[in-house]
Amino acid sequence: MNETSPRLISLPLELPENIHCPCRFFLCEIAAVENFFSHDVASYLADSEIAVWSNIRDVNYRRAWLAGRFLVKGIYESLRQNASEPVLNAPRLFPSYEIISRNASRRGIRPYLTVDKKPTPTAITITHSESMIGVGIALSETIRLGMDVASLETVSQKIVKTFFQKEERQMVYSFPDEHWAERLWCVKEAAYKALNDGEPFMPSRFNIASRDDRRLEYSYYFENKIQRTILMSRRVGDAVYAIGTNGVEKKVKN
Ligand SMILES: CC(C)(COP(=O)(O)OP(=O)(O)OC[C@H]1O[C@@H](n2cnc3c(N)ncnc32)[C@H](O)[C@@H]1OP(=O)(O)O)[C@@H](O)C(=O)NCCC(=O)NCCS
Repeated sequence: MNETSPRLISLPLELPENIHCPCRFFLCEIAAVENFFSHDVASYLADSEIAVWSNIRDVNYRRAWLAGRFLVKGIYESLRQNASEPVLNAPRLFPSYEIISRNASRRGIRPYLTVDKKPTPTAITITHSESMIGVGIALSETIRLGMDVASLETVSQKIVKTFFQKEERQMVYSFPDEHWAERLWCVKEAAYKALNDGEPFMPSRFNIASRDDRRLEYSYYFENKIQRTILMSRRVGDAVYAIGTNGVEKKVKN
C-alpha cells in the first residue's frame, strides 16, 4: 500500500446566497485511489458489499465501484471528524460502513450510507468514467446531491438531436470548443441523480430554466410536478463533470 493520499480535486459548488448547502464534491483518478488502498477488500468493505463486489463481472466497473466505496467512506469519516481536508486513513472503521446503491430487485437507487446497518443522515452521490471517480457528500438528511463525469467526445450528434432542447442545442453548436454536448449530458444525469424518486432516467425531461456564467438552473418535469436544481459543469483534463443539489436544508423545528 502506498501511504501517499490520492490527489483529490475538490470541486466547489457555487450556490446563490439564499441556498444553504454544506456539501463537498471530489474527483480523482481511479488508479490513484487503487494505489492508495490495500487490496485486501475485507479490511474496508462490509460483508454484504463484498458479496455485491464479487458478483460484478465488468472489470472497469468493479474497479470504479471499489474506488467509490473507499472514497465515500474516507471522506465521510473526515467530515464526521471535522477535518478541514479529507484524510483517508481510517480503514479500520470501514467494514462497519456500507454504501447501498441498489434495491432488492438490483435496480440502481440514490446511494445511502449505513453505519452498523443504521442509515446515516448523509447525502451521497457517486459517478465514474473509465478513468475517474467522483463523489459528493453532505452531512444532511434533507439535501440531495447529484454528480456525473464523462470523458470528452462521448456524446454523439444523434443524442444531441434526440434529447436536447433548442437552447441546449444552440449552446452545443455555438461554442464547439466548450464541450457542451458532454457537459449538458452530465448536467442532466446529475440533475436526475439529485431529483429522482425511483423513476427511470428520461433526459428530455430536464431543461434549462435559467443560466449565468457560473451556474445553470434546471427544471425537471415528472408526473405533473416541476422541480428545480442548481448545477455547475466544467472541464477537468480529458473529462467534464457536473455537480448539483436540490439545495434545500429543512429547518429544524424548535
Ligand atoms: C443513474 C444513471 C443515470 C447513471 O448512469 P451512468 O452515467 O451510467 O453511471 P455513473 O457512473 O455516472 O453513476 C453510477 C452511480 O449512480 C448511482 N445511482 C444509480 N442509480 C441512481 C439513482 N436512481 N439515483 C441516484 N443515483 C443513482 C450509483 O451510486 C452508481 O454508482 P455505484 O453503482 O458505484 O453505486 C443510471 O444508472 C440510471 O439510469 N439508473 C436508474 C435506472 C436503473 O437503475 N436502471 C437499471 C436497469 S433497470
